[in-house]
Amino acid sequence: MNEDKLLEKAKGVLKLNDRGSWMVPAADLYPHQWLWDSCFIAIGLRHLDIERAQTELTSLLRGQWSNGMLPNIIFSEGHKYHRDRELWRSYLSPYSPDGVSTSGLTQPPMLAEAVVQVGEKLKLPERRSWYKKMYPALVRYHEWLYTERDPHKEGLIILLHPYEAGLDNSPPWVSELRKHSMPWWVAAIEKLRLDGVVNLVRRDTRHIPPGQRTSNIEALSHWAALRRLRRHAYNSEAILNRPLFAVEDLAFNCLLIRANTDLQKISETIARPLPQEFLAAMTRTEAAIEQLWDETDGIYYSRSFISHKLIEEPTIAALLPLYAGTISKERAARLVQLLASRKWFKANWPIPSVPLRSSYFDPSRYWQGPTWINTNWLIIKGLESYGYQDEADKLRQKSLELVARNGLNEYFNPLNGHPEGAPSFSWTAALTIDLLKTS
Ligand code: GLC
Repeated sequence: MNEDKLLEKAKGVLKLNDRGSWMVPAADLYPHQWLWDSCFIAIGLRHLDIERAQTELTSLLRGQWSNGMLPNIIFSEGHKYHRDRELWRSYLSPYSPDGVSTSGLTQPPMLAEAVVQVGEKLKLPERRSWYKKMYPALVRYHEWLYTERDPHKEGLIILLHPYEAGLDNSPPWVSELRKHSMPWWVAAIEKLRLDGVVNLVRRDTRHIPPGQRTSNIEALSHWAALRRLRRHAYNSEAILNRPLFAVEDLAFNCLLIRANTDLQKISETIARPLPQEFLAAMTRTEAAIEQLWDETDGIYYSRSFISHKLIEEPTIAALLPLYAGTISKERAARLVQLLASRKWFKANWPIPSVPLRSSYFDPSRYWQGPTWINTNWLIIKGLESYGYQDEADKLRQKSLELVARNGLNEYFNPLNGHPEGAPSFSWTAALTIDLLKTS
């Protein structure tokens, strides 16, 4: 593999997707700024241009709501995107910012990690001022998560829509939506096999083959779920009063545990202690993640907030407690075994987003099988933190080989490495740079 050539290619993708002070995930398909995408982008950018990496993150704050929420999308301006903005109508909420349109939901809390990764490239005095700049917004965001999304102080954050998990059509969400939130008309469309008509209004399938995206029925149920949240002006309390479905999402909560640790690091560096109540919440989440372990299957699952039952659909999220970093060494060892097992996550081009044996597995369909570079990156970090350096190095090597051979796409077929989804995808390029620069 020619590493210099790969690095140049990755830089080229970032240049292509740069919109000045922030980047689109991919031209055409994703023309706005996304929350966790920008975090991954900044992690790569820090090796090229530290100021630009900082701007990528500060530009996320223009979308922060006055209650602390960081939205998953900040919309581009211009007539062309009117329909996208009107789908969400963030102006319905009194908390949404003036002068900028956003979505009304959040995404995995990667910001604290990105702030620290960027900070590590700075000398101590600059690092301190960088942390001081980002700290208040971060604290408000984490506090919002705990007040609004863990109202009973159980430790696990509740998500209200699959978009918040970042893994839109991941099996646990598909199965919850099917069971509890399939409007009659979506069921009727499915029964009458009329779902093909939906392609007429979908933008994504104009750019990418439908077989690589969320199915039409799933897309319709996402849309119906979004409309319900919009009717409540995205007010979590009102929604949680009578939720049709709500999920204690495994991936999100693992990322939150790591983000809390990062936030603590930031607070120590600038000598601004975190509120006691927040520290207590942090400890609760670390303990609560253990409630998601299923001893019979030997794996972690997400849980339904309503039935309090585990949603027994295994996904890549099962490996993210390694990234959280707070599970026991014994548990970590069991997760590492899953990585090496054909029954679970071993594949020619690791790591598939659901196990090969899952009934949902489809090597091309978005979060139902393909390999993604961001989840590989998170798992590499997790393996390293538990001392599995060989496994981490192997996964890093495989990930780099995958993109060097097949391009910097959104995701890849785990059986043959075929590039799928959007070409020239920003986080794939940014994390490739990070993997190259930190090996
Ligand atoms: C899709 C992905 C989400 C990502 C977004 C923009 O919705 O599921 O994780 O943030 O695209 O790339």
